[in-house]
Amino acid sequence: MAKLVINPEKKISRIQKEIYGHFSEHLGRCIYEGIYVGEDSPIPNVNGMRTDVVEALKKIKVPVLRWPGGCFADEYHWMDGIGPKEKRKKMINTHWGGVVEDNSFGTHEYFELCRQLGCETYVNGNLGSGTVQEMSEWVEYITFKGVSPMADLRKENGHEEPWKIDFFGVGNENWGCGGNMNPDYYANEYRRYQTYVRNYNCSQEEEEEHGIKKICCGANVDDYEWTREVLKTCFNHCDESLHGHMNGLSLHYYVHPEGWEIKGSATDFDDAVWYKTLSKAYYMDELIRRHGAIMDEFDPEKKIGMIVDEWGTWFTVEPGTNPGFLYQQNTIRDALVAGITLNVFNKHSDRVKMANLAQIVNVLQAVILTEGADMILTPTYHVFDMYKAHQDAMLLDSSIDSEEIGVTEEFQVPNLTESVSMAEDGTIHITVTNASPEETYPVETHIMESAVSEINGEMVQGEMHEKNTFEAPDTVKIKEFTDIEMTDGGFCFRIPPCAVVHLTVKRNV
Ligand code: AHR
Repeated sequence: MAKLVINPEKKISRIQKEIYGHFSEHLGRCIYEGIYVGEDSPIPNVNGMRTDVVEALKKIKVPVLRWPGGCFADEYHWMDGIGPKEKRKKMINTHWGGVVEDNSFGTHEYFELCRQLGCETYVNGNLGSGTVQEMSEWVEYITFKGVSPMADLRKENGHEEPWKIDFFGVGNENWGCGGNMNPDYYANEYRRYQTYVRNYNCSQEEEEEHGIKKICCGANVDDYEWTREVLKTCFNHCDESLHGHMNGLSLHYYVHPEGWEIKGSATDFDDAVWYKTLSKAYYMDELIRRHGAIMDEFDPEKKIGMIVDEWGTWFTVEPGTNPGFLYQQNTIRDALVAGITLNVFNKHSDRVKMANLAQIVNVLQAVILTEGADMILTPTYHVFDMYKAHQDAMLLDSSIDSEEIGVTEEFQVPNLTESVSMAEDGTIHITVTNASPEETYPVETHIMESAVSEINGEMVQGEMHEKNTFEAPDTVKIKEFTDIEMTDGGFCFRIPPCAVVHLTVKRNV
C-alpha cells in the first residue's frame, strides 16, 4: 500500500497565489468572443465583458492575468488600442489566423477586465518590434499620477486615476517570435528597456514591495544556455548595480504528445499516448530543477522568481476550425496534466513564483470554451477550482510512495503525485493525482503528531476521454470523494483511476 506522510511542522515555502495565474492573448477567440463581446452585444455583459465568463473565472479566484501576448505582444503597439473605438486602427492579426484585429480591446478594457475579476495585472511589453520610448510611455500612460503627456492622454481618454501594473514582461519569447535574438543580445536589450519601466508612484525604498515586478524573457523548454547567458548579463548577486532590475525570469513549456510538428488529437488517443502526454507533463519537474539549479548559481537567495508564464497542452486544433486559432477540446487527460503540473509547481514554490496557463478561454488548454452565448467549463477548470485551496497557503513537507508506470520504457510517469499545504487557519489541503487508466490505489496517510478530526474529499475523475460539450456540459464535474477510512495512524483513501483528488483535513489541535 502507498504511504503518504505529511509533516505539518515543516513549512517549506509559500505557494504564491500567482502560481494559479492565467494568460490571455489576442489569439483566435480568446479575447474577442471568449471574454470581450462589446457593450452592444446581446450576450449579457458589463462594460463589454461577458458576465458568464467573468463570474466563472471569479469562482476559481484567478489571481493574475497576463496580456496581450504571447507572440502578439511583440507586434502590439499599445497606442492602436486607446481612444474612441471607431477611430482605432483596424489591422490584420498576422500572427494568429490572419483575421481583422479592430483594437476594440486595448489598455482600458484590459484594466477593466482585471477590475471585474479582482485580479493582479501582468502586462507584456513589446521589445521585439517596439521602441524603448513606446514601452516607457505605455508604463507612464498606465501608472503616472501627475501631469505628463501620457497621463494627460489617459485622462482625455476617460480614466482620471492611474492603474497598477503588478508585473511587466520585457518582451516575450525573444529567442523566437519576439525577435529571434541570441541570449547575449536580448540580455543587453533587456537591461536597456527595463531601465525605462519606471516606478512612478513609489520611492526606491518602497519598490521591492510596491513596485512593478519586471519579468525577463527566459528559456524555451530545455534551453539551459539561454538561462545561463541571460543571467550572466542581467543578474549578478555580487553586483549591487544590477539589483532591482529583474524580479522574474520566464520559462515556456507546452506538452505536445506527438511533438511540435504533429502535436496529436485532443480527444482521440490510446493508452500509449495518454502516458506519453502525462510523462511529458511531468517533465516540468526536471525543467524546473535544472533551470532552477542555474538560477541558484547566480541567485542563491532566490530573489528572482521562476515565472512559467506559458504552460499547458497544445494539441491539433479541433477539425474544421481555423488552424491559427488554436482551439482544442479538453478531456480528463487535460485534468491530469493540470493536476500533475500544479503539484509540481507547488513542490517548487521556493523558486516558482508565478505560472500562467495557456490560455484562459477558447485557446489551447482553456478553462472555459464558448460558442455564441453558450459557455462550458472544461475538466481543467474543475482542477483549478479544487486547487484554489493552495493559493497563498504554506507548502508542507510531504512524500508519497510512487512507482513509474507506462506502456513504453521511454514514457513513464509516476502513478501518484501529490502536494500538501496548510492554510492560515491550520486546515490541510492534499491534492493527489492517479495517472493509471485502470488501477485504484489505496493510500495510507499519516499526518505526523496529529489527530484528524474531519476529512472532506472531492475529485475530478472519469474515463480518460471524457469531456464536456455544449450538448452535454456537465459530463465532467467535481464529484464528492468518499472512499476514505480512519485508521489508527491517520486515514486511508482509495484513489480511483484517472483521478485528481482534493482532501480537506481538519485536525484536533
Ligand atoms: O500561446 C500561444 C503561443 O505560444 C504564444 O503566443 C507564444 O508566446 C508561444 O509560442
